[in-house]
Amino acid sequence: MFIFKRVTDLQRFVERQKKEGKLVGFVPTMGALHEGHMSLIKRANDESEISVCSIFVNPTQFNDKDDLKKYPRPIEKDIELLIANACDVLFLPEVEDVYPKGPKPLVIDFGKLDKVMEGAFREGHFAGVAQVVKRLLDIVLPDKLFMGQKDFQQFTIIQNMIDQLDIPTELVVCDIMREKSGLAMSSRNVRLSEKGRKAATLLHKTLKAAKKKVNSSTPEKVEKWALKELAAPGFEPEYFTIADGYTLQPIKEFSDTDYVVACIAVWHEGVRLIDNMILKKE
Ligand code: PAF
Repeated sequence: MFIFKRVTDLQRFVERQKKEGKLVGFVPTMGALHEGHMSLIKRANDESEISVCSIFVNPTQFNDKDDLKKYPRPIEKDIELLIANACDVLFLPEVEDVYPKGPKPLVIDFGKLDKVMEGAFREGHFAGVAQVVKRLLDIVLPDKLFMGQKDFQQFTIIQNMIDQLDIPTELVVCDIMREKSGLAMSSRNVRLSEKGRKAATLLHKTLKAAKKKVNSSTPEKVEKWALKELAAPGFEPEYFTIADGYTLQPIKEFSDTDYVVACIAVWHEGVRLIDNMILKKE
């Protein structure tokens, strides 16, 4: 695996690959890699000829300084995992490489997409995500971009950015990877205790039970029920939202749209966990 720290070195390499007609697949990450990320690398290897993974803990998407400080950074382990999964290139820039003139704000109007759920609870988060993904796409110029369904709102917003700015990159969304227990894989899971990890399966259980209620209830009733479930001892739910999968806006009836998603954010043991499930896609 090649490791590039400098933008120009990476660009020179990618340019050469493209000249040889090779398709470039890109997986942006913030490190603390796990099987979820590896499923993106595998997909990038399947669907392109050169897989590029970036590890960059982007400061502009953290509205909570403490969360940024505590974000795990096990770089040696990450490199081993990438090599074991046949990643071709690791891009490992510093903040000054990504933002040489400081983080220039990227002004994109996402309409109502970034006003709900994560956007409502994490001010400025999606502006930061869009800014870094745009910058990384400008550097890597990939043919395909691989992102996980786990961050449902994130990939929806990035697709919207790609459409608005006519970026010539195809977004490929990959399934959520779960532990055997059902817990969605996340870099933040390492901050949970053994007991906390078991208890956190509550998110997936609640989503599965919510899906069973689609034909016999209303979104409002299911949301109320789920929020009660998620208010179990030790848990602090931020939201359980049933939304239109395209617009991310709440729906009144399950029949309002052919694409329905339920998204969750809860706190447990001081860790913010998110998860989601598609309840219906016709
Ligand atoms: O999903 C993430 O890990 C990050 O938000 C991303 C897309 C790598 C941007 O920093």
